[in-house]
Amino acid sequence: MNDELESIWVPKPKAWVVVVLVIGILCHWKLAEGNIEHSGRKLDDYVPGFISIDCGATSDYLDESTGIVYKSDKGFIDTGTNNEISPEYYYSNPDYGRLTRNLRSFPQGKKNCYTLKPEQGKNNNYLIRAFFHYGNYDNMNKIPKFDVHVGVNYWTTVEPSAVNRAIFPDMIHVPTSDIIFVCLINTGSGIPFISALELRPLDKSLYPFDFGALRHGWRYSRGTTVSMELVRYKSDAYDRLWYSGSTLSNWVPINNSSAIDIQGSNDSYKPPSEVLRTAFQPPSGYHALLYDWNNSGDNFKCYVCFHFAEIAELTQGKKREFIISVNGGTYTSKPITLDHFKPLSICLNQIFQGHFSFSINATTGSDLPPILNAFEIYGVISPFYLFNATDSRDVAAIMEIKQTSKISREDWQGDPCSPNKYSWIGLTCSSDYTPRIISLNLSSCQLTGEIPISLSNLTALLYLDLSYNQLTGNIPQFLAQLPNLKTLNLSGNKFDGSVPEALIQKSRDGSLILSLGEVSDLCLSAPCTKKEKKQKKELIVVALVATSAIILVLMFIFCALAIYKRKRQDVALKSNFKLKNTQYNYSEVVRITNNFKTIIGEGGFGKVYLGILKDETQVAVKLLSQSSKQGYKEFRAEAQLLMIVHHRNLVSLVGYCDEGENKALIYEYMANGNLQKHLSVTNTNVVNWNQRLQIAVDAAHGLEYLHNGCKPPIIHRDLKTSNILLNENMQAKIADFGLSRAFATENDSHVCTGLAGTLGYLDPESQASGKLNKKSDVYSFGIVLFELITGRPAIMRKHEKNIHILDWVYPVIESGDIGSIVDPRLQREFHTNSAWKAVEIAMSCVPSVAIQRSDMSQVLVELKECLALEMAHGRSQTMEIENNETTSSIPLTMSSMELQSDIAALVR
Ligand SMILES: *[C@@H]1O[C@H](CO)[C@@H](O)[C@H](O)[C@H]1NC(C)=O
Ligand SMILES: *[C@@H]1O[C@H](CO)[C@@H](O)[C@H](O)[C@H]1NC(C)=O
Ligand SMILES: *[C@@H]1O[C@H](CO)[C@@H](O)[C@H](O)[C@H]1NC(C)=O
Repeated sequence: MNDELESIWVPKPKAWVVVVLVIGILCHWKLAEGNIEHSGRKLDDYVPGFISIDCGATSDYLDESTGIVYKSDKGFIDTGTNNEISPEYYYSNPDYGRLTRNLRSFPQGKKNCYTLKPEQGKNNNYLIRAFFHYGNYDNMNKIPKFDVHVGVNYWTTVEPSAVNRAIFPDMIHVPTSDIIFVCLINTGSGIPFISALELRPLDKSLYPFDFGALRHGWRYSRGTTVSMELVRYKSDAYDRLWYSGSTLSNWVPINNSSAIDIQGSNDSYKPPSEVLRTAFQPPSGYHALLYDWNNSGDNFKCYVCFHFAEIAELTQGKKREFIISVNGGTYTSKPITLDHFKPLSICLNQIFQGHFSFSINATTGSDLPPILNAFEIYGVISPFYLFNATDSRDVAAIMEIKQTSKISREDWQGDPCSPNKYSWIGLTCSSDYTPRIISLNLSSCQLTGEIPISLSNLTALLYLDLSYNQLTGNIPQFLAQLPNLKTLNLSGNKFDGSVPEALIQKSRDGSLILSLGEVSDLCLSAPCTKKEKKQKKELIVVALVATSAIILVLMFIFCALAIYKRKRQDVALKSNFKLKNTQYNYSEVVRITNNFKTIIGEGGFGKVYLGILKDETQVAVKLLSQSSKQGYKEFRAEAQLLMIVHHRNLVSLVGYCDEGENKALIYEYMANGNLQKHLSVTNTNVVNWNQRLQIAVDAAHGLEYLHNGCKPPIIHRDLKTSNILLNENMQAKIADFGLSRAFATENDSHVCTGLAGTLGYLDPESQASGKLNKKSDVYSFGIVLFELITGRPAIMRKHEKNIHILDWVYPVIESGDIGSIVDPRLQREFHTNSAWKAVEIAMSCVPSVAIQRSDMSQVLVELKECLALEMAHGRSQTMEIENNETTSSIPLTMSSMELQSDIAALVR
């Protein structure tokens, strides 16, 4: 793609332009060289929010033409070496010559990262751009090829097409942490290097995008053939680079010398007036501007923005009106008219997949041909391929430890855990959704001074090895407070003072394996001889006694409160419900299940057995796996609460067993198993469309009740097809609601995330925030709906890759063929209208922004209508088809088109 960018879009200035620019740059460079102050301006007078790094430069300088201060990269990276390109290539890139003169190369290490800390912090929109100009800096005349990551994710592959070509990919990035890493990855095809790195904050409202990340923007403008330079800051407040698009086939440039009134408009995209002042229109006699990106392959996914401004003086009564259509009608706009000199930007919050093309067509009522002033195309990285960054507290702590302890390990770069392939040596991470650092081995690292306090922030640590260093000072108290620490090795150091009592205690009671090695100067539990140390110890003892007393009092108050609360709850429950028969002994459980004879399932929390109660009713007994003992504290209270939730679309809990280690939940028996099984490819007994809609309505009923019928509302937290069960009449009921909150989950497969919820069903916002709410259930429900509609699982495996159902279904929906959306096993035995309606409802559940998702009550109403639509047609269907197949297809297509445009509106 980079090649394409260069070959098509990098301007080839006429010789005189080069000469003028060379002279200009020479002068400017002479002026700026070595100046700390320039024209009375301090160099750190930088543009607010901009981070501008001239990699490999020896000092900071002011770039005259843009007014941007470029910093050397000293404060942003601590690896790599400075280089200068070969002198013959100094000026091969006039627009950014100075920037590309120096570079930093990374002969060592697989991953080398710049660390950017933008002032605006996380969850903001940033434009990130890097420059790469090889310029034969190493006299090898061999262009390397390597990857660049932003944060923990792949951004682009750098492979300039010629020694003197610069490439400058950019991307729009919304970081989830305050630190942004830009990493160069050695992929074995040459030494990575970088010439410059820039970060620009963008307004938060710009480039709204719900589907992952925007990588690599191509920004074309300008119907002009004269001025070829790139347009950037200050013309562009956001410092986007706009390339001249004069090579576009037969588009005719038009221009107007007046300045376009940008300030006066409310177009927050603020395209530069140089960009808007010129435009393209079709050749005379034509009414459409056509654009076709030849080289975009089948897998190309993009996002697109159009920028317009009326620059011609229109004679009274004449109007210009046009329609944008992308990828042959996948998206079609409403008719657009422009206000004179007022910019209008249109970004489509939609992914276009495959061969990219668009056309801008004059409407029939238009007197003039369409115009286009500029447009932008961005590549898209689907969210499903994105890794997650390490917990930001752990990142901050380990970065600080690295810095204060001057740990020089070449691989300690960028995110510590993610992606797995490049995680730091000497530490291991949990495989949670948000990885945590769980072990740290700093043995023999030549650490000096005291144990760094930042270690206390690595709260997930299980294992810490600081042995064989020159650590001195006291062994700090906080080591005993690391809540999960199981192994601590401090041997081979030079500590003095005493070992904290709490550590010794932990070691004695076996909760911590503590190695102190041969401690000469340390006092263990035996009283110290040195007076000073004795005093210290006495102080510690006093402090310990005092804290213990306080803790005891607090515990007492807590217990009293808890008992009081429990009593009240028990009273409330008992007065309303008969709980006597709902608690079972373990021996009863054994009898009910006939000594656990028949396994009918295995899910989160443990195996499920068939059971028969005294009165012959069949039940499902879920024996909670013993390996997840922790987290059962609230078992009884929670089980009792769940037993009072009754609804015909919720699987009822008929009892529970709580006898020490043996814990079980006893549910009503659901003869037809779970929905996942029914939708799977191995199931030969296909659930028909009508049944599917009925199941959707049932499940929606159940979920709606949990959300709106229970006070306080119950969030399911892990809705998925395997948690929707069917009874002997194929009536659907939701199972496992409210469980994940009460119990430590032992998930049923590795695709599950650390947070409750299952990958594929978990919405992007909750993934990011770790919080679950009603709207995250709605998202999961939307995924279930799509599975019902398409017959495909939430995550499909294809060519060694996982594909999320939304990534599969969006392009198919855009194609507008309902037949290819709906499960082919139904052999088109469904009604188009109800199918489109179901798709529409599912779409309303899955926007990545929670507030845009429907409420369950709304979803329920819509689904009922959808079912009614299907039923109504079911009755007359045969007749219609027999009588006049052709005529009936016309209104059908129309209504499906209407629905489609509604869907397009939703996608936007
Ligand atoms: C504007 O267009 C005229 C012809 O229509 C052309 O001669 C002129 O060079 C253009 N100016 C710019 C700045 O492109
Ligand atoms: C910790 O690091 C040291 C030195 O690098 C190494 O000898 C030791 O085996 C490591 N320990 C573990 C458990 O990996
Ligand atoms: C430190 O102690 C732990 C536990 O005794 C042990 O597993 C580990 O190998 C030790 N590390 C070194 C470098 O001896």
